[in-house]
Amino acid sequence: MKILVTGGLGFIGSHTVVELQNEGFEVVIIDNLSNSSEDVLKGIVAITGIQPVFEKIDLREKTAVQEFFKRHADVSGIIHFAASKAVGESVENPLLYYENNLGALVYILQELQKKTEASFIFSSSCTVYGQAETMPITEDAPIQAAMSPYGNTKQIGEEIIVDVAKVSHINAILLRYFNPVGSHPSVEIGELPLGVPQNLIPFITQTGAGLRKELSVYGSDYPTPDGTCIRDYIHVVDLAKAHVIALKRLLDKKNLEKVETFNLGTGTGSSVLEVIHSFEKVSGKKLPYKLVDRREGDVVEAYADTKKANEVLGWKSELTLDQAMESAWKWEKKIRNL
Ligand code: UD1
Repeated sequence: MKILVTGGLGFIGSHTVVELQNEGFEVVIIDNLSNSSEDVLKGIVAITGIQPVFEKIDLREKTAVQEFFKRHADVSGIIHFAASKAVGESVENPLLYYENNLGALVYILQELQKKTEASFIFSSSCTVYGQAETMPITEDAPIQAAMSPYGNTKQIGEEIIVDVAKVSHINAILLRYFNPVGSHPSVEIGELPLGVPQNLIPFITQTGAGLRKELSVYGSDYPTPDGTCIRDYIHVVDLAKAHVIALKRLLDKKNLEKVETFNLGTGTGSSVLEVIHSFEKVSGKKLPYKLVDRREGDVVEAYADTKKANEVLGWKSELTLDQAMESAWKWEKKIRNL
């Protein structure tokens, strides 16, 4: 079966391509290389021995999207990762986010709407819950007003899919990721952030590698046991496997509703200091860090209730935070030739 993976050269996309190929799916990747590199293909081939088809397409070009689906009329499933994901950048350039994350989604759905059958997996985020009132966060926790254009594109994206599914043959699964981290154990693919990383784990590994002087821990006076924020860090390989399971659910018509939503997390919250200690343990290095003011827009804590993903989807995360940190560190050392 032929599966389209948009953003398939990105961080989560490339790991998912590997898992799809491991399960025997034929993969076609669309990527515009805006935040990825064609070299990622080599890593995918090194792991799976299979060269996926790659088409460099910018999904904001409507005619390019239309032509793609004419050329690949036999695509059975779509996993849509392609999107911009930097919160700060989205505040500075909101239209880039609305065009890239929503314009592209509309163009793809327009093509899928013409089909008699379509299975669609959407990359959503726990950011839709904002600061949830109760922990762990279930899928029916209320959606909160978005704190950034990026977060808004995830909320609106979900709504667009729900509306279109009602009037088409599209079946969809919305996957709300908590904090994806780590890299493939083969160290052939991993996260490749552009510029100074805004996310915690790449900043930690770059600091460990000597590229950054020290990590700033944003806030140490939060109402948590050690005063730092709590997140649910999920290994990217576990996350990638969840996409394959979700896709099979749609292809096998096991879904109970036209649009289903699942949280993808470990169910365990870790504080920023716990993440630092995990890095120190697996790397054997002391991480230089300082406690600074809170970062605007951060929630205090967010971790998933994974019951629905476990029981309905039949997926459970297997890898630990230490394993995620170890793989992230091995990857950082590899790309820096350390
Ligand atoms: C961020 C985004 C979220 C997005 C996700 C994608 C914000 C407010 N949220 O989530 O919308 O879906 O990335 O991966 O940007 N931290 C430090 N020092 C650093 C970097 C981070 O202390 O240099 C702390 C943060 O305060 C937070 C934790 O580490 O408590 C995780 O931060 P990060 O990796 O940026 O993820 P989120 O903020 O959870």
